[in-house]
Amino acid sequence: MTLDQSRGDLGTARDGLAGLLELQDISKVFTSRHDTATAVADVTLTIQPGQFVTLLGPSGCGKTTTLRMIAGFESPTSGDILLDGTSIVRTPPNKRPMSMVFQSYALFPHLTVFDNIGFGLRVQHVDKGERDVRIRKAMELTGIETFGDRHPNELSGGQQQRVALSRALVMEPKMLLFDEPLSNLDAKLRLRMRDEIRAIQQRLQITSVFVTHDQSEALTMSDVIVVMNKGRIEQVGTPEEVYRKPNSTFVASFLGSANFLEVHVVAVAATGVAEASFEGRLLQAQAGPQVVAGETATLMVRSENLRVEPAGSSGLGVDGKVSSSAFDGAVIRYAVETPAGILSAEAPGTDSPMPAGTLVRCVFRAEDAWLIATGKEAA
Ligand SMILES: Nc1ncnc2c1ncn2[C@@H]1O[C@H](COP(=O)(O)OP(=O)(O)O)[C@@H](O)[C@H]1O
Ligand SMILES: [Mg+2]
Repeated sequence: MTLDQSRGDLGTARDGLAGLLELQDISKVFTSRHDTATAVADVTLTIQPGQFVTLLGPSGCGKTTTLRMIAGFESPTSGDILLDGTSIVRTPPNKRPMSMVFQSYALFPHLTVFDNIGFGLRVQHVDKGERDVRIRKAMELTGIETFGDRHPNELSGGQQQRVALSRALVMEPKMLLFDEPLSNLDAKLRLRMRDEIRAIQQRLQITSVFVTHDQSEALTMSDVIVVMNKGRIEQVGTPEEVYRKPNSTFVASFLGSANFLEVHVVAVAATGVAEASFEGRLLQAQAGPQVVAGETATLMVRSENLRVEPAGSSGLGVDGKVSSSAFDGAVIRYAVETPAGILSAEAPGTDSPMPAGTLVRCVFRAEDAWLIATGKEAA
């Protein structure tokens, strides 16, 4: 691939083939003398060209193993991986048109920033003229054009991560792979790098797979989130879908703060609105997949959608007693003791907090409550 000079940025997926990635029923079983461990089980996923897809899940759920199989550092025990329609499982990592960015940056300490970024091009015998142009473009993209002569130990963590990103971009890969690249940065910088990575990805329209255990990173950066649990995919959807319409209590509680009520489904209307009873009272909620009248279900309502009103309020909800309140600036966080256990609710920070012991009703709107069919509880 050559640099697309007319467009003034690095060549991307768009210049060659598209960067369509298909994981077909891939599994990875690690076997040692003493035991076998299934790190990834039956993962099937299609990533469209130009998409930013995040693998999200708790530590040990198989995110890194999945990413390493895409990169070629691990081979699947079974299943196939296709890039633009061609199987790549037998292609060695250095022959796959992909670049990976690691949490640890993995820079060469003895090389300057410029030479770190140019290392891969040198290995590929790209001539010096083209190399220099590409390195400069890659440095511009991440805003480190003035650091070329420095060594990694003369840079902050954020600057080092920009070098690592430039080093990935300079190869003009069809795909960028990220394994928790922001975890070593302080909170403020982490927020900024999210935006920068996303902006570069959008500008280059480069297919990206991003691994994180940070739900907020996943929600803010992704076109599509793949929620993983114990080696399997729990749900694939847009950030809004996985947040508002989780298909399991695992997904609901991994993303954001969720309250659950065990309810009996009384009726499901064609509009998707369901009536459900809890402690003898009727509530309304949106019915998720496979929620049917006559069965039990789990009603999920997010803390930010659960309002605390004085007892006797006419709103639909659950009665309880304030067990604690905490002022958190923008919001007041309540823990409310109810027949469904302790529910967490929020009120605007400008309200005066209700003291512990106050009798209240936790109310919510039907459109903010989501029913998950029984049998979809967290494993
Ligand atoms: N090389 C390996 N040998 C044996 N087990 C491994 C190896 N790599 C990962 N695992 C196991 O596979 C599971 C998934 O690990 P990993 O993909 O690193 O999860 P994550 O990145 O989501 O934290 C874990 O139980 C881990 O211990
Ligand atoms: Mg990992």
